[in-house]
Amino acid sequence: MDDLRAKYIDLIAAADSEAALEELRVAAVGKKGEISLKMRELGKMSAEERQVAGPALNALKDEINSALAAKKAALADAALEERLKGEWLDVTLPGRPRRMGTIHPISQVMDEVTAIFADMGFSVAEGPQIDSDWYNFDALNIPGHHPARAEMDTFYMHRAEGDNRPPHVLRTHTSPVQIRHMEAHGAPCRIIAPGRVYRADYDQTHTPMFHQVEGLAIDRDISMANLKWVLEEFVKAYFEVDNVELRFRASHFPFTEPSAEVDIQCSWDGGVLKVGEGSDWLEILGSGMVHPQVLQNSGVDPDEWQGFAFGMGIDRIAMLKYGIPDLRAFFESDLRWLRHYGFAALDMPTLQGGLSR
Ligand code: PHE
Repeated sequence: MDDLRAKYIDLIAAADSEAALEELRVAAVGKKGEISLKMRELGKMSAEERQVAGPALNALKDEINSALAAKKAALADAALEERLKGEWLDVTLPGRPRRMGTIHPISQVMDEVTAIFADMGFSVAEGPQIDSDWYNFDALNIPGHHPARAEMDTFYMHRAEGDNRPPHVLRTHTSPVQIRHMEAHGAPCRIIAPGRVYRADYDQTHTPMFHQVEGLAIDRDISMANLKWVLEEFVKAYFEVDNVELRFRASHFPFTEPSAEVDIQCSWDGGVLKVGEGSDWLEILGSGMVHPQVLQNSGVDPDEWQGFAFGMGIDRIAMLKYGIPDLRAFFESDLRWLRHYGFAALDMPTLQGGLSR
């Protein structure tokens, strides 16, 4: 028994894998293992012999079993140790940002504009980019013969041969969303409507597709004063300056009365544009009090309700804020340009956290 013990304890100590251990287990305490065979011999022994050999064999079997279990645990520990060494990783190292593209300046500016107006209680409305001439023109008080229609360089959709209905158009501005929103939700309302618009025009400051954001606020007593305040708040927040002069220039739009184009104060000192300084002016939007006929056309009673509307060029204010010289670059999908002017994908602009930082 002592020989058996010495033999297996040594072999177990020397085993270098779970498979080798399993072989030893079978050889020692398996059904036909050496120790099991010895136990079978107990039957042939005298009662006195058995009383000595029985407990001794059982003890040996237990000892071998626990040596096997201990070695198995040690092998598992060693394997884990080995694996941990191989997969070692310094979790205190700074993370490596994964390249996942950038946010296009237009998307960034739309998010900034939305954050600012949301803070003033405006929600976001949307309308179709292909619209009927009713929504794009007539409902906005621009009849068929009106010069504004011709001036818009409209893209007309094709109608099937023999279909004499007026063609749909690619919307030339976001103003049709005014009509659709009031039609669906009535008054009072306070919305902005950012989106794509289309005009047949192409040079350094015009592309056939560009972006506008419409604003509309209707209630019982909304006035030009409210329009001025809202736009001043917007311009200060958007350009991230404490003070800026606005200039309201009398203008004309068929869908507002009175109408004003709005310029912001700026300087071009040293060729660098600074908003809120100097004595130059930059036009950024058209606005006015919504024409009573437009309210009527949208099912809102002009004797009860009134309000302001404005339309602003998103591409234009993006160029001004981020120093982008050529509008056409926005739509060329040049990756080098996007990496230079793009924004980090996970930085959502908020008024609290900073719009553009
Ligand atoms: N729709 C006008 C344009 O595209 C802008 C505008 C909107 C003017 C709302 C007044 C009120 O030029």
